[in-house]
Amino acid sequence: MIDLKGKVAIVTGGAHGIGRAISELYAEAGAAVFIADIDTEAGSEAASSIREKGREATFVRADVSVEADAVECVKAAAGVHNRIDILCNNAARLGGFHALAESTTDEWTQSFAVSLMGTRHFTREALRWMVPQQQGSIIMIASIQAMVGGRNSAAYTSIKSALLGFTRSVAYDYGPYNIRVNAICPGAIQTRISPKPGDELYNRQVSKTFLGRVGQPREIASAALFLASDLASYVTGAILPVDGGWTAM
Ligand SMILES: NC(=O)c1ccc[n+]([C@@H]2O[C@H](COP(=O)([O-])OP(=O)(O)OC[C@H]3O[C@@H](n4cnc5c(N)ncnc54)[C@H](O)[C@@H]3O)[C@@H](O)[C@H]2O)c1
Repeated sequence: MIDLKGKVAIVTGGAHGIGRAISELYAEAGAAVFIADIDTEAGSEAASSIREKGREATFVRADVSVEADAVECVKAAAGVHNRIDILCNNAARLGGFHALAESTTDEWTQSFAVSLMGTRHFTREALRWMVPQQQGSIIMIASIQAMVGGRNSAAYTSIKSALLGFTRSVAYDYGPYNIRVNAICPGAIQTRISPKPGDELYNRQVSKTFLGRVGQPREIASAALFLASDLASYVTGAILPVDGGWTAM
């Protein structure tokens, strides 16, 4: 039912986990997908596995924190059909999860550079195309940690919270250009960064949900597909938890 044929989508951090699932689902819906990631091997493999299924995908090596990489990546994606329709800002600096007293300035600076400034760089470049088109959908992958506290993650929580402000502010400014800007807040989703089944943290995560389980990357991708599509034509500035009920508890 959801058709992205003829649309060009960029997914940052699309080599692994949630970003990869979003890239796959956008391509299944007919979009030409650009995977922007620092992991060349995994990113190339993700794009070629999508192409093997007869769909359109290209890997572009890009570090989202580097402004010039964002400029080049968006230019390359726009070169395909002379447009950018969808941008999913998914890449984030993960790790360095410990109490604030043990954190380093460098960790905070890197988190800021990747997760917030990277989102800013890609969004600004995509807007250069979306404004004249008078059409576009920008999706931030934030976290429920932007809505509720999380242990040992002050940098991550602070920057994910900032992404919600970024979402609302850009949605406000670019609504008149028919550009929709929304954020998804995933709960505990099974990716390479997740605790393993049976771990104390895994069990705690499961106990925080109404559904009694962690989520799968494809379940975040489904929400990202909806927001990217015309079915969400009146949805902007929204913060959508996809968390099995965690934040409703
Ligand atoms: N897994 C979860 O439980 C969960 C929960 C809430 C939010 N999230 C968010 O979902 C997003 C994806 O997380 P994931 O679990 O799939 O992690 P992941 O590690 O599997 O994927 C992250 C991707 O980002 C890429 N990346 C990292 N730094 C980059 C940079 N500087 N430039 C370009 N690419 C870069 C990595 O190479 C990787 O492909 C993140 O924004 C994360 O904060 C995840």
